[in-house]
Amino acid sequence: VPTPAFVVGLPKAELHLHLEGTLEPELKLELARRNGVDIGQSTVEQVRATYEFDSLASFLGVYYPAMNVLVTEADFYDLATAYFRRAAADGVRRVEAFFDPQAHTSRGVSIETVILGYHRAAMDAADLGVSAELILCFLRDFSAESALETLTSALPYKDRFIGVGLDSDERENPPAKFAAVFALARENGLKLTMHCDIDQAGSIENIRQVLEDIQVDRIDHGTNIVENPELVTLVRERGLGLTCCPVSNSFVTADMKAVEMVALMNFGVLVTVNSDDPAYFGAYVADNYLALAEKAGLDTSELVLLAKNSFRASWLSDDEKAAYL
Ligand code: ADE
Ligand code: ZN
Repeated sequence: VPTPAFVVGLPKAELHLHLEGTLEPELKLELARRNGVDIGQSTVEQVRATYEFDSLASFLGVYYPAMNVLVTEADFYDLATAYFRRAAADGVRRVEAFFDPQAHTSRGVSIETVILGYHRAAMDAADLGVSAELILCFLRDFSAESALETLTSALPYKDRFIGVGLDSDERENPPAKFAAVFALARENGLKLTMHCDIDQAGSIENIRQVLEDIQVDRIDHGTNIVENPELVTLVRERGLGLTCCPVSNSFVTADMKAVEMVALMNFGVLVTVNSDDPAYFGAYVADNYLALAEKAGLDTSELVLLAKNSFRASWLSDDEKAAYL
């Protein structure tokens, strides 16, 4: 049985991590005090008591309001830096981290404040032995026009992020809604990824759209692809990573999706293990490897494969990947 020390000792890349999802209750309270923001709770216990999720919607209902405490560039820097330190302690050597600019610009924080704070933290992560890059995510329950406006306002800073993603509530917000904005991102040299995490009718059509119409460079979650063997073969042939999040799944979907992850991994798909929103789901990346190993009965060689997959599925150059494989 793999031990925590074994998992921490494996060099890993984390490819599915929302920086806003790393906001621990202690920092949330400190930033609330610093900025004079009333969040309705004043102790860590009170904050944790609000963390009751049984669906993506109930999670997002706690997640977005908490972001009110993030105001200045220093706040974004401090949030990301706390995560990079925690990730380094878990053996993470490469991070490609999501952030949600519209969750901040929609309440009056400038996109420059967000990008500069996070980017400075990503550069400073090198001192921790962590190579870090950013992925700008659009909120799919906002309009396509809002996404386009967000990308346009971010393009002056495009050397400070490597790709774009799509998150928030997938129901009734299919990939095709954002085809134009993703095409523009690609024209600007950015990598593309999208969340495919609904656990209901329509999920396989959305996975088809990201592969055939949007032509993404990775898929976030995406385990429901097992329903369509032709699409499974396609992701394997293209060498596209699936960024899976076992503990997050156990909160916001029917189960951990361990069976699907292991079947895809054994078929040769680049399945990876990630933490998604670790401050909310109570599990950083090493905990996610351990939870999956316990649930699926994985041995150390299978965890080594998952850790290597995380570098193979990353957006490092082939030369850079070779240093970790
Ligand atoms: N934003 C942050 N975490 C998310 C998740 N698990 N699914 C969709 N959007 C998110
Ligand atoms: Zn996610």
